[in-house]
Amino acid sequence: MSIRETQAWKALEQQLEGGMRDVHLKTLFQQSPRFETFYLEAAGIQMDLSKQRWTTEVREQLFSLAREADVPAAIQRLLSGERVNRTEDRPALHTALRLPRDAQLDVEGVDVVSEVHATLDKMETLVNKLLNGQWRGATGKPITDVVNLGVGGSDLGPLMVTSALTDFEPDDVFEVSTHFASTMDGSQLADFLSWLNPETTMFILSSKSFGTIDTLSNASTALDWIATRLGVDEALIKRFHFVGVSTKPEKMTEWGIDPGNQLLFWDWVGGRYSLWSAIGLPIAIRVGMENFRQLLAGAHAMDEHFRTADLAENLPVQLGLIGIWNANFLDIRSHAVLPYDGRLKHLPGYFQQLEMESNGKSVTNDDTVVDYSTCPVIWGEIGPNGQHAFYQLLHQGTQPVACDFIAPVNRYNDVEDERFRDDLMAQHRLALANCFAQSRVLMLGDDAVKSEETPPSYMRYRGNQPSSTLMFDSLNPATLGALIALYEHKVFVQGVIWDIDSFDQWGVELGKKIATETEEIIATQNGLDSLDDSSRGLIEAIWKGQQS
Ligand code: F6P
Repeated sequence: MSIRETQAWKALEQQLEGGMRDVHLKTLFQQSPRFETFYLEAAGIQMDLSKQRWTTEVREQLFSLAREADVPAAIQRLLSGERVNRTEDRPALHTALRLPRDAQLDVEGVDVVSEVHATLDKMETLVNKLLNGQWRGATGKPITDVVNLGVGGSDLGPLMVTSALTDFEPDDVFEVSTHFASTMDGSQLADFLSWLNPETTMFILSSKSFGTIDTLSNASTALDWIATRLGVDEALIKRFHFVGVSTKPEKMTEWGIDPGNQLLFWDWVGGRYSLWSAIGLPIAIRVGMENFRQLLAGAHAMDEHFRTADLAENLPVQLGLIGIWNANFLDIRSHAVLPYDGRLKHLPGYFQQLEMESNGKSVTNDDTVVDYSTCPVIWGEIGPNGQHAFYQLLHQGTQPVACDFIAPVNRYNDVEDERFRDDLMAQHRLALANCFAQSRVLMLGDDAVKSEETPPSYMRYRGNQPSSTLMFDSLNPATLGALIALYEHKVFVQGVIWDIDSFDQWGVELGKKIATETEEIIATQNGLDSLDDSSRGLIEAIWKGQQS
């Protein structure tokens, strides 16, 4: 049965027709106080959903929808390691990666917790060797720079977390910098290689499948770079300058990664859910293993909340449900992620993969094509910068856009120099003021200012753009872990309601296959006739351009 056939879905449609479609947020705020009603807190995350275009009646119906879709049972299935990834017939057990050492979870006869912690321990040894200055390159010099070669989930999570947690770099350790190169065109890598020292640079080959051409092509360029610069035997270079993180040990060995330099994870970890595994190695190198474990602990606190809290208290469930209301009933198909903290600059990109690769699907679990919309377009930018770029459209454009404002309550409190601290704290206050002002204007429109005169139409703000505000005491490993886990679970809740598999990504495969064939045609100049007129024309244009 389609989710649209459920009683709750129909009741929600009635709510829509009964006035919710056209009600303005300012009217909802005039009717009754909302903050207390729609404010939730758990695992260090505070969430205000009062500026969403919903009422307690709508929320009740959304809870009913969640019950009719069996969300509570699905949560238990996810966390206990059932094969919730239907098309790939395996569990999606990223939550097991953050279970404490003394927890127990046997999945299909395997003690998952022991395996996870054995890998974390191996990772710790490797990290400590680097941070003690004991990992030496082929010429005997200690490694000072680590470049992560990975893409998608093998890049975005570590990239996002390392830049979010720069304040947590440990003191008193040998300084090792981390860098990220993902693009297959080699531009990021070529830039690093123009100034890095091959004697003191290490590369992490991060790839769940160890078959992604983007990463393997960067790896091969990196290998050739060290080989030509140092003139050392390739086997030695691979041993001292390359570490591999993958679910495929045999492929890593075939490439030449020393088994001692291999960190493994499991096929039940989805790429976009993998920063908690050894894929998080660059994070641990940057902030130390203790902080990496805090990140896991923060995510675990959110997992526990997700597992145990009633729907009415459950942050991920409610964040998921408000997304359903916006996408399926209010027809809002654009969702902006707006952090008011520069350290979270990579969060929108990270959420883009998490949400769009998970829920950008149109076939249900019983192979029927959906007749409702699924994942909206997720995009975003650091909020204060977005204010000077695209907020114009949020305020006066023609698109409805739902926004997530994300900010820490405290920042800079620990800066030692008093005058400098005051300046920075004033800047943080400025950012928070802008964050709250923007969500208020988006909500109220013109009514945010008291004015006797009606402004001309080009100066009018219609308001009624819904938003959520998420805050945490300060940005630290634990709160960041909880925030990411919150969104992971939100995505799961929505996938359950949309009746789709949130853990596969078949939609990326055809492009890869056709790209391989296209590359062959460009390189060999054979097979051009098999292509369409546009692709043929473009290839001929590059041949012409590259000759001249
Ligand atoms: O092409 C999409 C994808 O498979 C993502 O799901 C994944 O995170 C990324 O490519 C990288 O894959 P891998 O870690 O196997 O190199």
